[in-house]
Amino acid sequence: MISKKMVKEINDQIQRELYSEYLYLQMAAFFKGENLDGFSKWMIFQAKEEHTHAMKFYEHLYERGEQVTFQAISAPKADYKNPLDVFKFAYNHELTVTKNISNLMSLAKKESDYATESFIKWFVDEQVEEEASFDKIVRILEKIKESSNALYMLDNQLSKRA
Ligand SMILES: [Fe+2]
Ligand SMILES: [Fe+2]
Repeated sequence: MISKKMVKEINDQIQRELYSEYLYLQMAAFFKGENLDGFSKWMIFQAKEEHTHAMKFYEHLYERGEQVTFQAISAPKADYKNPLDVFKFAYNHELTVTKNISNLMSLAKKESDYATESFIKWFVDEQVEEEASFDKIVRILEKIKESSNALYMLDNQLSKRA
């Protein structure tokens, strides 16, 4: 049995995962406009991952005999100063998502909802990876500063994400 409160929280999380997809697609578009195709490809890959996260929550609700209710997705921030600005914003966004996932885990524990607890465990681990991958690129971009050679080398490296 899953509580009404948990159903609502999971529906909220579906909205947040889809917003993440939207945000990263916008970031991909920003990079495309800057002719940084590798960065753009990396962000599209990330957006697809967020889509799969949303769908995991979606499937979980149906497996538990509940319904998915979609919500409005607000426009993501589109204006960025440079690649570092983008990745800092994305990293901070992931920190917020980690808090959301932690809250879901706390609620599952509080409600002794072991099925949701077990399901959420995957996302707890996933957020460790998500934070690390964004943080790594923030650190590299901080080192690169104004060097366009290094930026294009990173662009080439990011294009290989698969
Ligand atoms: Fe996600
Ligand atoms: Fe994420």
